[in-house]
Amino acid sequence: MAAALITGSARGIGAAIALRLAEDGFDIALNDISQEMFENNDIADKIKAKGVQCEIFICDVSDHAQCESTVKAVKARFGSIDVLVNNAGITRDGLMARMSEEQFDSVIAVNQKSVFNMTKFAGSVMMRQKSGRIINLSSVAGVYGNPGQINYSASKAAIIGMTKTVAKELGSRGITCNAVAPGFIKTPMTDKLTDAQREAMINQIAMKRYGEVEEIAGVVSFLASKDASYVTGQVIEISGGLMM
Ligand code: NAI
Repeated sequence: MAAALITGSARGIGAAIALRLAEDGFDIALNDISQEMFENNDIADKIKAKGVQCEIFICDVSDHAQCESTVKAVKARFGSIDVLVNNAGITRDGLMARMSEEQFDSVIAVNQKSVFNMTKFAGSVMMRQKSGRIINLSSVAGVYGNPGQINYSASKAAIIGMTKTVAKELGSRGITCNAVAPGFIKTPMTDKLTDAQREAMINQIAMKRYGEVEEIAGVVSFLASKDASYVTGQVIEISGGLMM
């Protein structure tokens, strides 16, 4: 059985991706920053109910050494790592003039450095397997920029550069690396927006609605499937037609 590791998968888009990849038949390695994220949370039970194996691996994805030991533990538990989804992410929004160094550095560490950390270690497992799929969560903010998000948009743009570099470095080993760039998706992250911010965003979306987490999970499922075997280095926007 093939195994998928999804970072930041206790809730939101990551949990939806984990559930969808379980439906596709993958054993699932869940990850999040703390065990508390999985308390009062039935994601692991829902995944096991699909008939696959599931285990939780707690790790701060911004920490290089923790990522190394997590990847080792996942490989030991499941025998292979066939899909890596770099999903964990945070926002610490603020206009540039008022943004602190800590706000900037923390977002770069969690959103951007984590992709290097996890891809380096899981990628080396995949190189030995001569197969693997890596799927990174970028954002429309990384493609177009977004006021109040100089830290976040920098990290999400960097993910696009890393996706293309990894696609080029690992392609000859049968490994693909792609990114998805969601627009506005209903999750705890976007629940933080004010009604006015929400209204302003919806006006710019061709489909005049927010996306659902399952609509991200479906595209990730495709990128992890046999049908996407010749797709690599691509950034797929999933935004209902925002800023075309
Ligand atoms: P969320 O906040 O609901 O979930 C993110 C998960 O990552 C949480 O469970 C959190 O605990 C975990 N996490 C945070 N820091 C971590 C760390 N250091 N180590 C391990 N886990 C950590 O967010 P959401 O909305 O589900 O976002 C998932 C991804 O999709 C993020 O990378 C986000 O930037 C991206 N995205 C989300 C959009 C949206 O509209 N919700 C739009 C575009 C991109």
